[in-house]
Amino acid sequence: MNRLEGKTAIVTGASSGIGRATARLFADEGANVVIAARRGRELDELSAEIAARGGNAVALAGDVRDAAYAQALVQLATENFGGLDIAFNNAGTLGAMGPVRDVSLEGWRETLDTNLTSAFLGAKYQVPAMRARGGGSLIFTSTFVGHAIGFPGMAAYAASKAGLIGLVQVLAAEHGVENIRANAILPGGTDTPMGAAVADTPESRSLVEGMHALKRIAAPEEIAWSVLHLASDESSFVTGAAISVDGGISISRT
Ligand SMILES: NC(=O)c1ccc[n+]([C@@H]2O[C@H](COP(=O)([O-])OP(=O)(O)OC[C@H]3O[C@@H](n4cnc5c(N)ncnc54)[C@H](OP(=O)(O)O)[C@@H]3O)[C@@H](O)[C@H]2O)c1
Repeated sequence: MNRLEGKTAIVTGASSGIGRATARLFADEGANVVIAARRGRELDELSAEIAARGGNAVALAGDVRDAAYAQALVQLATENFGGLDIAFNNAGTLGAMGPVRDVSLEGWRETLDTNLTSAFLGAKYQVPAMRARGGGSLIFTSTFVGHAIGFPGMAAYAASKAGLIGLVQVLAAEHGVENIRANAILPGGTDTPMGAAVADTPESRSLVEGMHALKRIAAPEEIAWSVLHLASDESSFVTGAAISVDGGISISRT
């Protein structure tokens, strides 16, 4: 408890899955949270749940591809809670799936906009707020896909998520001197609506589970614990890192 006492965090993709679990955990650990996603009703439900647990949350629905939305989230943090310390830029989509020859340019761009340009926009507006605070922690959700494994049919997703790791390294180098850290988390298969979209039958779920050294997929809370570590001062010397929280899927051949 209270590992984030007095801190303020933005969490995108908070209407579901990993983002939702992380926003709840951040609030349980004492952070004020600004929660973001397109579905306002889910955000309002989460705000109410956090308030009922004694935490502080404000919600703003919008699209992470929109620069004005990235700006508005930072403004909300500053106006409501006096500044910004942590940003978990987590919203993402599987996007345009299929062999490269069949992926439309529009689908490719939409996937990169949602998964990668959103992260650039987030950082662009979050960094100045963190500078004003004397430091901060930026965390981005990447994946093992495109980093450790080339899965057929996932080119746009893989490229966008691998791009995040490059962005993280540059952000870490640019802003380390200002005590702003930047890291990527690389989850393995996780039990969320997105995870279910990939493993949509008992057979495919069992196949995906078997690819992990731990022979199971993660609960979203198991990813959230590692995000909490990167958000908190316990990871004060970790920056520019791509951290696998993947149940061993990237190293397993059994
Ligand atoms: N599940 C896995 O196995 C797995 C593995 C590795 C990495 N990841 C990554 O983990 C992150 C979270 O995914 P999840 O598994 O928790 O899936 P999820 O439950 O489907 O959550 C995705 C979140 O992203 C939000 N989102 C998507 N497009 C958005 C947009 N244009 N604007 C604003 N919000 C948007 C969704 O909210 P709205 O629909 O309300 O907008 C939702 O809250 C993603 O970046 C994903 O790539 C997942």
